[in-house]
Amino acid sequence: MDSGALFSLDGRVAFVSGGAGAIGSAIAQALAAAGARVAIADVSADRAEATAAKVAAAGYEAIATPADVTSPAEAQRAVAAAVERFGRLDIVVNAVGGGAGKVLFSAEDYPRDAWDWIMELNLRSTVVATQAAVRPMIAAGRGGRVLNISSVRAQLGINSGYSAYVAAKGAVSSLTRQWATEWAKYRITVNAIAPTFVDTPQVAMLLGDPEFKAGVVARIPLGRVGETGDLTGAAVFFTSDASAFVTGQILTIDGGLTATQ
Ligand SMILES: NC(=O)c1ccc[n+]([C@@H]2O[C@H](COP(=O)([O-])OP(=O)(O)OC[C@H]3O[C@@H](n4cnc5c(N)ncnc54)[C@H](O)[C@@H]3O)[C@@H](O)[C@H]2O)c1
Repeated sequence: MDSGALFSLDGRVAFVSGGAGAIGSAIAQALAAAGARVAIADVSADRAEATAAKVAAAGYEAIATPADVTSPAEAQRAVAAAVERFGRLDIVVNAVGGGAGKVLFSAEDYPRDAWDWIMELNLRSTVVATQAAVRPMIAAGRGGRVLNISSVRAQLGINSGYSAYVAAKGAVSSLTRQWATEWAKYRITVNAIAPTFVDTPQVAMLLGDPEFKAGVVARIPLGRVGETGDLTGAAVFFTSDASAFVTGQILTIDGGLTATQ
C-alpha cells in the first residue's frame, strides 16, 4: 500500500462530536480532506451548520447533526442521522470538553457543582457519544476507530485550580485503554491525543495573561503553545489504516513538555 493510501479516509464516515469547536472543526476539516464524509455533532446547531457548510465549501461532504451528546437519546439520534445520510459509520472523534479555565478552585475547596459540570462536559460527553457511535460499528462488523481528546493534564498536575479537569481527563485516558481492550475483538481501535495548551478561545483568557503564558511557554522545549493544526496529522493517523495495529495509546502533542518531566 502506498503511503497516500495508508492515510486515506476514502469511503469512511466520521462522526465528530464537538465538531463545531476549535479543535473539533479543525479535525473534521482534516478528516474530510483525507477523504472522509463527516457529521458535525455539536450542541450549537448554528455552529454545526456553519462548520458543515465550511467543509462543503472546501469541496467535501458534510452534514450537521446537532445534539447535546451528554444525552444518550440525542447522541443516538445524531448518529442515526449520520448513518442514514452516509450509509455507514467508521470513526468517532470526541472533541467536546474543556471548561477548566472557567472554574478554577483550590483542590481543598473544589465545589461539587463545578466538579459535576466539568465531568459532564469532558467525561460523560465522551462516554455517551462513543456508546452511541460504537454500537452501529459493532453491528456492521467492519471495525472502526475511536479518537478521544485527553490532555497532558491527565498526566501532569498544574498549580491553577484544575482538579476536576485533571480527574476527567485522567478518566478519558483510562477509558481509552479500557475500550481498546474491550473492542479489539471488533477491530475497533481506541486511541487518544493529549495536547498541552492549544491557542483556542477556551484558553484565551488564561493565555491572555502574559505572565501565565510566559510560564507555560518556558516549560515547552519547542518554545510555543499548540495550534489546532498541530493536532490534525495525528487525528488522520489514528483514524486511518496507517494505525491499524495501534490501540489503547495516548499521544501527547505538547512541543516536548512531558519529555522534560
Ligand atoms: N484548547 C486547549 O488548549 C486544549 C488543550 C488540551 C485538550 N483540549 C481538549 O480538546 C477538546 C476540544 O477543546 P476546544 O478548545 O476545541 O473547545 P471548544 O469549546 O472550542 O469546543 C468544544 C465544542 O463542544 C461543544 N459542546 C459543548 N458541550 C456539548 C454537548 N453537551 N454536546 C455537544 N457539543 C457540545 C461546544 O459547543 C464546542 O463547539 C476538549 O476536550 C478540551 O478539553 C483542549
